Amino acid sequence: MRTNGQKGPVNLGLETARLTFRGQSVDLPVTVGSENEAAIDISKLRKATGAITLDYGYLNTGSCESAVTYLDGENGILRYRGYPVEELAAKSRFVEVAYLLINGHMPNAKERGEWSALLNQHSMIHEDMRRFFYQYPEHAHPMAILSAMVVSLSTFYPELSQHRPNEPEEAITIAAKRLMSKLRTIAAFSYKKSIGEPFVYPRSDLKYCANFLNMMFSSPVCPYEIKPEVVSALNVLLILHADHEQNCSTSAVRLVGSARVNLYASVSAGICALWGPLHGGANQMVIEMLEDIIASGQSVKAYVDRIKTTKELLYGFGHRVYKTYDPRAKIIKAACHRVLKVLGVNDRMLDIALELEDIGMKDEYFLSRNLYPNVDFYSGLIYRAIGIPKEMFTVMFALGRLPGWIAQWKEAREDTRFKLQRPRQIYVGPHKRRLLPGQVASETSKTSRTKK
Ligand code: ACO
Repeated sequence: MRTNGQKGPVNLGLETARLTFRGQSVDLPVTVGSENEAAIDISKLRKATGAITLDYGYLNTGSCESAVTYLDGENGILRYRGYPVEELAAKSRFVEVAYLLINGHMPNAKERGEWSALLNQHSMIHEDMRRFFYQYPEHAHPMAILSAMVVSLSTFYPELSQHRPNEPEEAITIAAKRLMSKLRTIAAFSYKKSIGEPFVYPRSDLKYCANFLNMMFSSPVCPYEIKPEVVSALNVLLILHADHEQNCSTSAVRLVGSARVNLYASVSAGICALWGPLHGGANQMVIEMLEDIIASGQSVKAYVDRIKTTKELLYGFGHRVYKTYDPRAKIIKAACHRVLKVLGVNDRMLDIALELEDIGMKDEYFLSRNLYPNVDFYSGLIYRAIGIPKEMFTVMFALGRLPGWIAQWKEAREDTRFKLQRPRQIYVGPHKRRLLPGQVASETSKTSRTKK
């Protein structure tokens, strides 16, 4: 067994897997992770056999070794750098977890102080960038704005844009801090723009989550009252979204980063991937689904029956890796009850969500497919209670996921086996063929068209 943070293959040459293909056998090395997960290393497969592997959606394919997050989908276990998320959510703050993910250890008092000071120092965005917000159409989705703004950061801080093979560590560290701090400001500004209110600047006397809430909800005519319960709920939500190993957006960050593009561009790609309704965009879809149920007046049971017949999706249900209840959803569900109670919010949507879950958890259709609530099922209900509109839900997810993206991007760079990611394919198109006369315009007819 290896300790956290150690790099390099763990194949001790003890175990191999034999593959026989077209009469030829090849012994493939087996790599075992710190929690005994095994992988058959096929790096030399094509050289040895001429064949590649085919795995739509990468259901069986590992793209890297990683020491950031451990996830056991069968048993509902999630740990960041070895720490269970349950414990982190109960005892720590988001900025500490971000530090943990990016640096590999929990910050001590001195590191915590320095980290907070740096997050404050980098929280402003360039005034020229502030003006970008005014150029977007009124109903621009904040995820589009977010990704465009993040890639734009690379034009204001070009030291990481030169595509050098080995960026100085210091430049990457500063870019990571900038991103951590500025994404929050950009997110709040995109909201203010969408409601036509003046931007509220970050305040150095406020901590990360309180600062964000103040930028979102304070206005020149109405100061925002920062409630500790709301701050604490936001901390929990961001912690639970902070990393999730090789999910779609993180893989996008790693893949784009593998072309040695800078951190801002890689994270911008991650934001775009997260936007999709099958991934982070599902939190917005859940609320829209609950709105639909209420607006249609149909019973929850009738809605579920329709989904089963039409094979539509019950958003916020199902997961590629979890085949049991998502441990994050468990914590978020409990937090949802707590927050709504503290804020005195009585949301009919929560009742409908609970009924949906109840029906889903007893129905053979969902049970036989291992479909349980995921992280997106209850998170939107907390955001709603806090006053965050549904279009901003995925932006909130991005804020939370950012430290994970940074940690994974850095880890990929520091891996001695760092390689451009370039999958292969099996070509199934036509054999070689020739263009027939008449299939394209002849030179003479092209010339005569141009002359007209
Ligand atoms: N509602 C209804 N049926 C579902 C759902 C769902 N949410 N999810 C999967 N199924 C069904 C599929 O139709 C399929 O049925 P079949 O075997 O009869 O064809 C079966 O369950 C297996 O589904 P797959 O699509 O093969 O599972 P996969 O692992 O590829 O999908 C995914 C995972 C994309 C998350 C899927 O469960 C889904 O679309 N969920 C809804 C969207 C969602 O909530 N996404 C957020 C995931 S968490 C995150 O990314 C942050």
